[in-house]
Amino acid sequence: MSSTLFRTKNVEQSIQDTEEPEHALRKSLSALDLTVFGVGVIIGTGIFVLTGKVAKENAGPAVSLGFVAAGVVCALAALCYAEFASTVPVAGSAYTFSYASLGELPAWIIGWDLVLEFALGTAVVAVGWSGYIRSLMDNVGWHLPAYLSGREGASGFGFDILAAALVLVLTCILVVGVKLSARVTTVIVAVKVTVVLIVIIAGAFFITGTNYQPFVPPAQTVAAESSLKAPLIQLMFGWAPSNYGVMGIFTAASVVFFAFIGFDIVATAAEETRNPQRDMPRGILGSLFICTVLYVAVAVVVTGMQNYRNLSIDAPLADAFKAVGHPWFAGVISFGAAVGLTSVCMILLLGQTRVFFAMSRDGLLPRFFSRVHPRFRTPHRPTILLGVIIAIVAGFTSLSELAELVNIGTLFAFVVVAISVIILRRTRPDLHRAFRTPWVPVIPILSVCASLWLMLNLPAETWLRFAVWMVIGFGVYFLYGRSHSRLAGREQSTAGRAPGAGTVP
Ligand code: ALA
Repeated sequence: MSSTLFRTKNVEQSIQDTEEPEHALRKSLSALDLTVFGVGVIIGTGIFVLTGKVAKENAGPAVSLGFVAAGVVCALAALCYAEFASTVPVAGSAYTFSYASLGELPAWIIGWDLVLEFALGTAVVAVGWSGYIRSLMDNVGWHLPAYLSGREGASGFGFDILAAALVLVLTCILVVGVKLSARVTTVIVAVKVTVVLIVIIAGAFFITGTNYQPFVPPAQTVAAESSLKAPLIQLMFGWAPSNYGVMGIFTAASVVFFAFIGFDIVATAAEETRNPQRDMPRGILGSLFICTVLYVAVAVVVTGMQNYRNLSIDAPLADAFKAVGHPWFAGVISFGAAVGLTSVCMILLLGQTRVFFAMSRDGLLPRFFSRVHPRFRTPHRPTILLGVIIAIVAGFTSLSELAELVNIGTLFAFVVVAISVIILRRTRPDLHRAFRTPWVPVIPILSVCASLWLMLNLPAETWLRFAVWMVIGFGVYFLYGRSHSRLAGREQSTAGRAPGAGTVP
């Protein structure tokens, strides 16, 4: 049985499957499209919303060091992702990579994990977007009734109508075609980057040196209401739960890591890329580098404009400008944030429908979902199914804990990808690799350690929720995927033919 759980789909087979006409996606994206996709999904709720909360509660001005730490973890993972994406250029990201190297069960686990993480990530961003829109509507005196404004603050029934509507509209755009959504994304990304640059450049004039003192606030012990809310690492070593100090920087890094999620999604579009061997590594590393520089700059500027204790939790970038007496800038920033979050939402949705598509093409989920639309050449069935589910989740969900769950799932995917790089170098040294991760196995091992370290800095309850998800995933695989796997079917037919084929009278 263990041999079937770890059966691998060879790389040539993965590439060949993408060439069957009724399961083939259109190859239309360039390196620039990929970088725009990357920046489009990376800059979002993380920098626009989480920066303030994390500076205020976990790290003070040292939140910028948290961004550096999270950026280093992502850069290590990106070097591994880029090798895989340029070797196995088919839809499905870490799922496909692990199917080619680790085997079917690990691939299933990671695919299951990615679909759910992207779904929750989309919901988190949609709810954040809705908050910015409501804040803009309030400026002009329009107010939605509380029961249509989401779970947060609703005393009884609360449904976030704006978040749900956003997800449904984006689902329609994705069904019509990637090229259209890439164009829309380009405009949105331009607005978003402009707003971030406004924060950095205009904000720099309002920095007060005393706000950086102390840059790393001394550690403070906190009375945890429940020990499950403390980072797992603190519980493991029996440390009293604390905020700020050096450990506070790592807690901050494990949360603001959300701000970097997305560069890996660039890899999910490999199959739709004209020249994946050359363009994938450029798209992934390029977008990650641009975002890291912008994040650190924004964090330094915002914590310099306002004392970290006074930063706002809902709209820290806009409110820092209000605090220095420039509400006009605050309005522009809120508008840009709302526009920018739209593209984040759309690309998360795109990434996860592609993983679902790849899993269904392999038979691990019903094959019904992997027929592409005859005219648009998009996987319309998983796109519509997941779009509707996410719209409902976004309507009924509040943010904060979901973001941590998204982080742990993504970090877990990074661990699997880094291990896969090492394994595939040994099992298939012959494969052409347009991009090679430097210093293998040192970089992949460092990537595994760094990702695990951030995971350990997440709350114990996040680990518990993650474990529950994984257990459900095992159930689905053993009840459906294992027996319907296309690879299993191929192995059986090969085994059936083998005796006759091998005996020449
Ligand atoms: N990185 C994306 C964000 O910050 C998911 O919203």
